Amino acid sequence: MDNGISPAKKAKVTNGSNPGASEKKTGYLKTQTDPENSVSLLFALPEKVGALAEVLKIFESHQVNLHHIESRPSKQSSSDFEFFVSCDNKTGGLKESLEAVKGIAKNFRLMSRQTGEYPSDDTEKTNTVPWFPKKINELDRFANQILSYGSELDSDHPGFTDPVYRARRKELADIAFFYKHGQEIPRVKYTEEEIGTWRTIFNELTKLYKTHACTQFNHVFPLLQDNCGYNADNIPQLEDVSRFLQDCTGFRLRPVAGLLSSRDFLSGLAFRVFHSTQYIRHSSKPMYTPEPDVCHELLGHVPLFADPAFAQFSQEIGLASLGAPDEYIKKLATCYWFTVEFGLCKQGKDLKAYGAGLLSSFGELQYCLTDAAEKKTFDPAVTCDQEYPITSYQPLYFVADSFETAKEKMREYAKTIPRPFSVRYNPYTQSVEVIENKNQIINLTHAIKGDLTLLEDALSKIGGI
Ligand SMILES: [Fe+2]
Repeated sequence: MDNGISPAKKAKVTNGSNPGASEKKTGYLKTQTDPENSVSLLFALPEKVGALAEVLKIFESHQVNLHHIESRPSKQSSSDFEFFVSCDNKTGGLKESLEAVKGIAKNFRLMSRQTGEYPSDDTEKTNTVPWFPKKINELDRFANQILSYGSELDSDHPGFTDPVYRARRKELADIAFFYKHGQEIPRVKYTEEEIGTWRTIFNELTKLYKTHACTQFNHVFPLLQDNCGYNADNIPQLEDVSRFLQDCTGFRLRPVAGLLSSRDFLSGLAFRVFHSTQYIRHSSKPMYTPEPDVCHELLGHVPLFADPAFAQFSQEIGLASLGAPDEYIKKLATCYWFTVEFGLCKQGKDLKAYGAGLLSSFGELQYCLTDAAEKKTFDPAVTCDQEYPITSYQPLYFVADSFETAKEKMREYAKTIPRPFSVRYNPYTQSVEVIENKNQIINLTHAIKGDLTLLEDALSKIGGI
């Protein structure tokens, strides 16, 4: 599934959600700077006695509580100091105090990840970090933010005039709409007609996988046949597949009721969550779908998410998207398009397909490896700006040397995204940590030291040192 990312349909890139103040908290531990109730700002002041006191007086006079304050020499001017201030957004006259600080400070940047109440004009918007989920269960918020519902079909959709198909789409969209993280994904009893559609696609595609799909895909596919009921007469259940993926790489599936924004879809990948459709295309055209369906997800996407290097690569795109400006979300969605959806990779002297849009399309899977299509080396800085068609075969494919090198390239590219912080995924708590102050970096250093000690010990025991 995707959005701006689907094999045949591109949706607009929108801002992330802005949860209201009434949203319940999702964490149990109160941090020193409570992100739910605080606004952070960065600004520079000249290095002179009383400069900071003047700013602090502004907050005091408007009765705004400060949670945290740090300073460092400015990188832009040796005569200035930069200040990072985190203040309470629930007390006092925050808006007035921010206006006043802005009037006397340089390089003022607001970093609210809250309601979007601030800032109030376009100039300031460019300096605001869009909200993004920090805990895996915050992905529940996206269920209500879909750009279109599953039963809303365009007039040229093969199922548009079929009331039975439309009712089925609504039934399956409702499952996703009410789904919450941690629940089992409800099982669907697919009809004989639906299984027939799946059978046609399964039989055609499996003829090509040995010769056209990458090694990693062909390694995993038999495991899915053995463990998840992949065969011509059965449409696998998302819950079974999700459990299999969690065992392999920690990736999991989450049903989705319709099209998500690119920002929301990509942020799921940061948590190793893949938003998956559960409905199947219309039976009148089994070899065509104008949107992602369960065949595209299960045959195209799922096998690769069981590969550790590919899973890591996909997560890198997701992590890069968190809090990124809109224009970079578009660039990342384009990178996703040319890799996870339509990527080719080198395998010895040959090229093979690993993109889900290829592995779920009988026609394009053959076409993509011919000389008819242009090939270029995957480079996120170049790939991110490449235009592409969404209703025809791709005229150009990007080739990755390996998932490892693609991951490293994505990491390097992510550094160029203008964000005033770094993010790190904590698999123990299934949360994203925002690294933006010295104490967090020191704590992270301690954790890495622990890992290095373990590596040293392991190496000595196997005679490596
Ligand atoms: Fe897809």
